[in-house]
Amino acid sequence: MLQYTLKVAEIRQETQDTVTVVFKQPALKKIKYHSGQYLTLIFRINNRRYIRPYSFSSAPGIDNTLNITVKRVPGGVVSNHIADCLKVGDIVEVMEPMGDFTLENKGINGNSRLILWGAGSGITPLLSLAKFALHHQFARHLTLVYGNRGHESAIFSGQINELQKQYAEYFSVWHFHTKAIVDAAYPYLIQGRINPQTVLSVLKKEGDLGNTVHYICGPAGLKESVKKVLEEEGIGPKQIFSEEFKRVANPKDFENVITRTVSLIKGGKEHAIEVIKGKSILEAGLDAMIDLSYSCQTGNCTVCKGKLLSGQLKSIRSQETMPSLNKDEYLLCCSYPVTENIQIIVD
Ligand SMILES: Cc1cc2nc3c(=O)[nH]c(=O)nc-3n(C[C@H](O)[C@H](O)[C@H](O)COP(=O)(O)OP(=O)(O)OC[C@H]3O[C@@H](n4cnc5c(N)ncnc54)[C@H](O)[C@@H]3O)c2cc1C
Ligand code: FES
Repeated sequence: MLQYTLKVAEIRQETQDTVTVVFKQPALKKIKYHSGQYLTLIFRINNRRYIRPYSFSSAPGIDNTLNITVKRVPGGVVSNHIADCLKVGDIVEVMEPMGDFTLENKGINGNSRLILWGAGSGITPLLSLAKFALHHQFARHLTLVYGNRGHESAIFSGQINELQKQYAEYFSVWHFHTKAIVDAAYPYLIQGRINPQTVLSVLKKEGDLGNTVHYICGPAGLKESVKKVLEEEGIGPKQIFSEEFKRVANPKDFENVITRTVSLIKGGKEHAIEVIKGKSILEAGLDAMIDLSYSCQTGNCTVCKGKLLSGQLKSIRSQETMPSLNKDEYLLCCSYPVTENIQIIVD
């Protein structure tokens, strides 16, 4: 895994709880990425290493800088560290860009219509995708459906307005505000959440859905609502792509998982760690201060891959597409012990 160091060039306050961190591209070897991908930041906070992915809000070839946009999570270690402590001139260690929530190789052509569904900080990769798709006329038309509490908490509302003015013929936006007051002068502002009924109302206005390709990023409820309605409307899985910021597991999946001691071998050293029911092997290893590699923690990037030498593990993940792995390989962020004598070796 390639790693770089980047210098913070600017920090922009987007809303009360959200900042954009603008990194300078390295002078010699520019970092290449696709719109919709994410950058993984590595911090040392209180003597512990924390690794977190953040989607690019910039778009390659359009923005000269590498931008990420971070919303505070209540009690969150890294998001609050970024918002409170990071400053211009700081150097941050990052991993190479990753992720497949991109426009490339998705069967999109000049006849396609893109519909982007997002809420809250889920707008970050969607803005990157929108900028790139509009600039390159990647598709025939682009619609953004964007949910927020109100105007003041809507990240990038200024940039979205500018894009609408610049690409008036190609770009339409539906804003859903839970606190909005309905005003006939703003027909594209709808009061309420993006839920199955409102999804259907938007789709009806979009007309024929045959050539539509959908990108979803937001809380689990939004993803479920949109997917359910799209499936009912006959949109196949090859036309729907989603990005998860946080893994949501079903408590039922943990029924045969109990607290066990697991042996983790790293750099020739064997560590016996207690994996408490509900914690993944990755979380238990990190709590035991083992320097494990990881990034997304949602079962997507494969950085946390380990090789099972003995015992049995259960994989619990919410992403539909499973990265290709050998039979004895497991993603430790989504792996839970179900037998005794588990031995895993990691790089
Ligand atoms: C592929 C990917 C892209 C991402 N892109 C962005 C982005 O563009 N902008 C952005 O702000 N975040 C993004 N995230 C989320 C980000 O990586 C962190 O998970 C988030 O900032 C919380 O980290 P933390 O250290 O502050 O919280 P932690 O200390 O890890 O967690 C504190 C508590 O908050 C809960 N929690 C963790 N993450 C979230 C979350 N996202 N929402 C609600 N509760 C949470 C935890 O379960 C825990 O209870 C992305 C995540 C992934 C996997
Ligand atoms: S950390 Fe990305 S798959 Fe486990």
